[in-house]
Amino acid sequence: MVRYSEDLIEEIRNSNDIVDVISQYVILKRSGRNFFGLCPFHKEKSPSFSVSPDKQIFHCFGCGVGGNVIHFVSKIENLDFRETLELLANRANISLPTLDNSYQDNKKAILKSKVYEINEIAAKFYHENLYKPSSKEAQEYIKKRKLDNRTLKSFLIGYSGTFDELFKLLKSKGYTEEEILASSLVNKADNGAFIDRFRRRLMIPIQDATGKFIAFGGRVLDDSKPKYINSPENIVYSKGRNLFGLNVAKKGDTKKIIIVEGYMDAISLYQRGITNVVASLGTALTEQQGRLLRKNSEQIIIGYDADGAGQAATLRGMDILQNMGCDIRVLQIYGAKDPDEFVIKYGPERFEKCVDSAISLVEFKVRILKQNLNLDNVNDKIKFLNETAKILARVDNSIEQEVYIEKISKEYDISKEAIYGEVNKIKYSKTSEKKVLERAPIKSYLKKENIEKLDESIIKREKMVIYILLNYPKESFEKIKDIITEEEIKGKLNKKIISKIYDNYEKKKQVNILDSFEEEDIINYLSGILAEDFEIADINKCIEDLLNIYNKEKLINERNNILKQLENAENLNNAEIHALEQKLNDIILHLAKVK
Ligand code: GTP
Ligand code: MN
Repeated sequence: MVRYSEDLIEEIRNSNDIVDVISQYVILKRSGRNFFGLCPFHKEKSPSFSVSPDKQIFHCFGCGVGGNVIHFVSKIENLDFRETLELLANRANISLPTLDNSYQDNKKAILKSKVYEINEIAAKFYHENLYKPSSKEAQEYIKKRKLDNRTLKSFLIGYSGTFDELFKLLKSKGYTEEEILASSLVNKADNGAFIDRFRRRLMIPIQDATGKFIAFGGRVLDDSKPKYINSPENIVYSKGRNLFGLNVAKKGDTKKIIIVEGYMDAISLYQRGITNVVASLGTALTEQQGRLLRKNSEQIIIGYDADGAGQAATLRGMDILQNMGCDIRVLQIYGAKDPDEFVIKYGPERFEKCVDSAISLVEFKVRILKQNLNLDNVNDKIKFLNETAKILARVDNSIEQEVYIEKISKEYDISKEAIYGEVNKIKYSKTSEKKVLERAPIKSYLKKENIEKLDESIIKREKMVIYILLNYPKESFEKIKDIITEEEIKGKLNKKIISKIYDNYEKKKQVNILDSFEEEDIINYLSGILAEDFEIADINKCIEDLLNIYNKEKLINERNNILKQLENAENLNNAEIHALEQKLNDIILHLAKVK
């Protein structure tokens, strides 16, 4: 793995304030000295994700993940260490030295960069191919889809060859078979022949948020199946982590971002001046995609197809986005099956109107509910009320809830009192349910907890030692290191951490302790210790107390040891027994002093 110098890493970290960086992904609110928000790494309703500007660390008390700004970015952007440093250096306008030999040795990184190159060459090859006389079919298809030349250029839309044209081109440019196969653009047949994966298809290159070419969607020109062939996931492509069109959308205003199902929807809207559009890549929306959206916009508008599958996908996507704390709306279009058809039929102004009146998640859920019920039927109406109340009960903000109740009461002709009645019933039963749940397990676990308590207090004490060594090195090191040695530490992770701290200290290494480890479990654990509040008022007194405890323990151990030896006194001569008794006396005297 590549190693930038520790100074450089330090500089990059210092130039990227953790609160600034994390704020791009998570809505943070200050509380005392720290910031809190909803954890982007697990689903939660109340914030247990903390960021400390003083310590420049983050830690989630819910799922246990934590680290410094480098760990955060690496995790959330799914980048390796080197890529993360590049991103953060770039963000802080720090120039990095050119990649050294150790990086060149990194086979995977080289292969990746070759595949990016190959993808870009392929995109340009397909694009140029589209304009050739031999691509008449594709040109006619383009006309039929009403795509203009500027759009073709913006997305680098192309047309693939008929057999192995791309393979030959890549070979002629010196790429190895391994590199070419790694791009997934060429298949190797059983007889050993190489054939382009995409043949006679309209080619839509997929770029990541930074514009790198990572994959392709290839559409047939007629009605045959499959309609699309897409690049499979490979060394540079993961469909759940990317969004089609994001790199293009990012060039314009993305305060609001519309997410649609098809490449063609995004492309068609773009052509008509609606540029804040991305498309998911033929899968249900993932959390990583949600993060990309949240990072780049304030409001996300789901514009999936109007059919049943589209609605189901909308519901799933909404839940994911809502759990991440996004402001979501759902686009409602009538008279067309998808945004592409709508904008062609009715024009961009009417589409924009739909965007402006996109409905909230609650309204959408209620609307879906209504679709399958007949409100003139009493039973259906009761069911509608019950289910609606369930949806409303989940709205935490009471003003928001009131607004919805008002709206729904009017729209579906149900009295506000009836709706409130049902909502309150649910809320009330929920709290009592919760109370029962909270009470029950405590009893049954009480015994087990007692047993573990002893160990727990030792572990907690060790954590405090770590905390002090890291936060008050000047006051603590020399006093602590000879008394609280590595051997004294019982906790497995604590031992590893203390040993590293001492090691760094001996070697006079001024590194950020979190960067001393590569194991994720240790980084998470350590960030937890750093994030904890040990409420140290007087550091010297605190160190003294700790040392007393450890000294005392050592003495007690020694005492027990001697007592054991004295029990087996038949093996000892008088002088030996006398010496042991002398020692025992000393220890007992010592112990009295320590107390
Ligand atoms: P048009 O039908 O040309 O308007 O394409 P579209 O991009 O609007 O596609 P559609 O709405 O039918 O499908 C949404 C997305 O699902 C597409 O953009 C593809 O990513 C994916 N998809 C659609 N059909 C297929 C298929 O046959 N195979 C695969 N792998 N993915 C598909
Ligand atoms: Mn379509």
